[in-house]
Amino acid sequence: MTDQTDLSLGYTDGDIDTNNTGAISLNSLVDQRLSRRQTLRSGASAAAVAVFGGTVLTACDEATTSSDAPPTVTAGSSGATTAGRMVTLTGTASDNGTVGAVAWAQIGGPTVTLSSPNANTTTFLAPSVAEPTTLTFRFTAADENAQTTSATTTVTVSPAVLGFTAVPKNRNDIVTVPEGYTVTVMTALGDPLAAGVPAFRNDGSDTDYANRIGDHGDALYWYGLSSSGTRDDNSSTRGLLVQNHENLNVQYLHPAGPTAPGGVRPEAEAIKEIEAHGVSVTEYRRTNGAWAYVQDSAFNRRITPNTPTVLHGPVRGTSWVVTAYSPTGVAGRGTINNCANGHTPWGTNLTCEENWAGYFRRSGDDALRSAKELTSLRRYGVTSSSGNYLWSTVTPADASSTIFRKWDARATAGTPTSDFRNEPFQYGWVVEHDPYDKNAAPRKRTALGRMGHEGAWLSRAEAGKKLAVYMGDDSRGEYFYKYVSNASWDAADATSANRLAMGDKYLDQGTLHVARFNADGTGQWLPLTFGQVPNRPAAGADPEYVFADQADILVNARLAADAVGATGMDRPEWTATNMVNGEVYLTLTNNNATVRPLNGTNAANPRHYNDPKGTSAQRGNPNGHIIRIRENGDDPAAAGFTWDIYLFGAGSDLDPNNINVSGLTAGNDFSSPDGIWFSRPTNPAGLVNPVLWIQTDDGAYTDVTNNQMLAAMPGRVGDGGARTITNTGANGATATQATRVGKPATDATVKRFLIGPVECEITGVDSTPDGRTLFVGIQHPGEDGTPAAPTSNWPANQNGAAPAGTRPRSAVVAITKNDGGVIAL
Ligand code: FEO
Ligand code: CA
Ligand code: CA
Ligand code: CA
Repeated sequence: MTDQTDLSLGYTDGDIDTNNTGAISLNSLVDQRLSRRQTLRSGASAAAVAVFGGTVLTACDEATTSSDAPPTVTAGSSGATTAGRMVTLTGTASDNGTVGAVAWAQIGGPTVTLSSPNANTTTFLAPSVAEPTTLTFRFTAADENAQTTSATTTVTVSPAVLGFTAVPKNRNDIVTVPEGYTVTVMTALGDPLAAGVPAFRNDGSDTDYANRIGDHGDALYWYGLSSSGTRDDNSSTRGLLVQNHENLNVQYLHPAGPTAPGGVRPEAEAIKEIEAHGVSVTEYRRTNGAWAYVQDSAFNRRITPNTPTVLHGPVRGTSWVVTAYSPTGVAGRGTINNCANGHTPWGTNLTCEENWAGYFRRSGDDALRSAKELTSLRRYGVTSSSGNYLWSTVTPADASSTIFRKWDARATAGTPTSDFRNEPFQYGWVVEHDPYDKNAAPRKRTALGRMGHEGAWLSRAEAGKKLAVYMGDDSRGEYFYKYVSNASWDAADATSANRLAMGDKYLDQGTLHVARFNADGTGQWLPLTFGQVPNRPAAGADPEYVFADQADILVNARLAADAVGATGMDRPEWTATNMVNGEVYLTLTNNNATVRPLNGTNAANPRHYNDPKGTSAQRGNPNGHIIRIRENGDDPAAAGFTWDIYLFGAGSDLDPNNINVSGLTAGNDFSSPDGIWFSRPTNPAGLVNPVLWIQTDDGAYTDVTNNQMLAAMPGRVGDGGARTITNTGANGATATQATRVGKPATDATVKRFLIGPVECEITGVDSTPDGRTLFVGIQHPGEDGTPAAPTSNWPANQNGAAPAGTRPRSAVVAITKNDGGVIAL
């Protein structure tokens, strides 16, 4: 053959080795030939090598020869893999003269990106597929006379599976992940968030937590940034990590723990503790594969309990929230006990106030409170005689400051504008903030109701449909709520420049509902709308409660939910939405026999048993479960739903009929699910059959293993069936409870992915949009230790021994797969 025609297409000097455009020309050259001949050079010697997870596959073709023989190439035989895994294609080329340019090109199947198309070896990420799908690739080499030979190989990609080896249970003081994965500690308690803030000494002497990472990192979420520093939802290498800071390991914040001489807290100690709560926004960057945070980023922000906030929605400006700080009841200061979260399609973050009630000093003012106020305060547990950490005892150097006094919620002889009797009504809300605008005041969205908010996860945003927000109220026997927006979703709002105004549109006007679960596997959303909610009957010391208006219902959502007959649950924690089918999952972390005795079960909270820990009985539902719902018509605004229990926590050694109902094994048994999250739908882990991540906050199984995170691939509501459980109480008493359970777990559908260090809880999870980095929060390692004798040294010991006595720190870790594939697949 002659290559004159081919030379005219781009190779005029034969110097293809150094022609950087050679690969493209080489492929177009081959395409020309294929179009002319409708075939590859028949019999070309072409063995390609494709590597799939370590397996080398080969195949051969034959090449013809001429006086100057064209190259001989090898390119690979068909192979198989699954979505989200890295595939390596290796071609070889030899020639009687000199091998010139080589190139890989894709010629069939869903388009993938080849990492280095001009090299013998290239890689790509197997795309998401719903059924086995063949991708075809061609390897081409040229010689010094621009003669080319090509060979093809195919890769058949099957739907994603959980592709890692389950981590065995352990109690090590380290984050353990599967083989083939790497842990990078990103940000930990005390890390400085501005230029000039000293490095964290971690000896209790550090100050200025308003410019440091807070304590007890909880829920987190990634907000992408473009290289020029603008919002970019697709960025996986630069972004803002937004994290909640729920509470304190207070003993480690001070040189020798907190002090209160004469029962009074020193101002300097209290300010550190206050500022270590709230929310952090921290820029993260991945440079040449390595993750690090950016200390001096202009985006870094701390929201603390002192940050000015604005009240929005029906409670704004009502007498409920009038304080000495805001006589008109429209503003407040800060947010506290920020637990789980939510994010909106318009790019904001929802941070949720959970166990806020205990921070207030309140008891002793009954004579100055109305009967309604007292009912409300009791129902929400605003009953402390001191308030957590005794902050209200501080006498500030600046006598005009009320940042400590506001934690004293006792009514005085004055008026509501002269004291902070109403400050507890300013908390218990879902708070929206804009991670991209550090100067914008967070907005408390009162239309979503006041409770011990765990999280606030949105439904799928579907054009023309309303948005729903699913929320757990985390206390024993509390309820599961859904807010439905009045406005229907307009996709153009996702890119609005005024993000908080989109929050005003969707989160200030709508209807709060609470769930009732029926025994037949159906359920209703009961609207908490003034005029439809009956009086809440007298209960215990509380007289009948008569609602005055919608603000009254929202401030006292628990009372309204009592009144309509909602189903009490086993501590409703996080919610998660499966973005493929719209189903919503809710963790129910545990319950005890005091709140829910043997005869107190219901179909949605069906177990009552003993899981002894050492010699201590743990009765009730100590291991928790995960319930899921499917809205009728798959409509977020539906008035009803169907449900089943997806998964029951249990040790794998427990009774398979009545306790370990999901059939957990040594590779996936767990207790007390709390965090729950579906992989993002922007990568193979979040498509087709999305991966569900389950995080534990457990005290019942910690004699066997530290807290953990599992990856799962659930089915759908209704994939199991009806089941009757025989429960056992003290003294051998039994009772039966009918329920609805999902398909049992298997080692392939639920796998333990991570174990945390000593005395931690695992909480907070998100990934980069490409799914190739997973961020996980490790909260309160060593929580039972002392400054003199810490019980954990993590994270200082993650990559080797830490100096004796090193204090533990809550931290975020980035987990990457060593071969660059999607996490878990
Ligand atoms: Fe803050 Fe219910 O966990
Ligand atoms: Ca040759
Ligand atoms: Ca939690
Ligand atoms: Ca928790």
